Amino acid sequence: MLNGKVALVTGGGRGIGREIALTLAEKGAFVVVNYRGSEEKAKETVEAIRHAGGTAVSYGCNVADFTDCGEMIKNLIEEYGHIDILVNNAGITKDSLLMQMSEEAFDSVVDVNLKGCFNTMRHLSRQLLKQKGGKIINISSVSGILGNPGQANYCASKAGIIGLTKSAARELGSRGITVNAVAPGLIETEMTKGLSENARKTLEEKILLKRSGTAREVAEAVAFLASDAAGYITGQVIAVDGGMAV
Ligand code: NAI
Repeated sequence: MLNGKVALVTGGGRGIGREIALTLAEKGAFVVVNYRGSEEKAKETVEAIRHAGGTAVSYGCNVADFTDCGEMIKNLIEEYGHIDILVNNAGITKDSLLMQMSEEAFDSVVDVNLKGCFNTMRHLSRQLLKQKGGKIINISSVSGILGNPGQANYCASKAGIIGLTKSAARELGSRGITVNAVAPGLIETEMTKGLSENARKTLEEKILLKRSGTAREVAEAVAFLASDAAGYITGQVIAVDGGMAV
């Protein structure tokens, strides 16, 4: 279904990003697993893909760095000729109440989560226009739709992704390029491991399906948006949240 496609997945060393990389590869894409800190983790993703019969490489780059993202995109196009699917998944949290939030906590979260999406999209869009096609999928969050106490920085960055996605969809649509966002709810990963039992219970109460989701459930939605089956879907925010934001 994605045979012959080159996919770049940011933050693909673990969690949802790893599952997205595995799922796209399973469906036939050649996957570039981007990472910042842990090369080892990214290599584990690549190994898991190869073990399952797929093809992948890892590539280190901090998505918050505009120049480095430009280099990454340029090098990948030189090496592989085209990039067909971009999944902006890399993200961080630095939670605290607004009145206690440091400037650094705000800036760094916005830099990785929101500017990271801008950086890759900015550098890839010219190539996608030349190709007259491509799929961009940005990982937002249900928190970007609902807001969340203690996460003003994170929610602002994830809401920003929605505006960025819709604007890019409007700019690039006439050349056959689709741009969509996926907004996961509560998904079991390292990011949410720190939640107290109480916080988890309170959240699960708000979820119509009464359970947290899996990284695979997010990855399947991303793979759908990356496929031709979703060829007429653009500018959308698909919630994968068990009905949390209904
Ligand atoms: P995670 O913390 O397990 O994985 C995030 C990945 O991003 C890590 O591999 C990390 O190394 C990478 N990363 C962080 N900063 C980076 C940078 N500057 N450059 C390149 N890579 C970088 O988190 P998880 O849960 O897998 O989240 C993935 C995405 O899904 C994030 O954007 C997150 O905000 C979003 N999300 C997660 C939810 C959850 O419940 N786990 C809910 C809603 C959204």
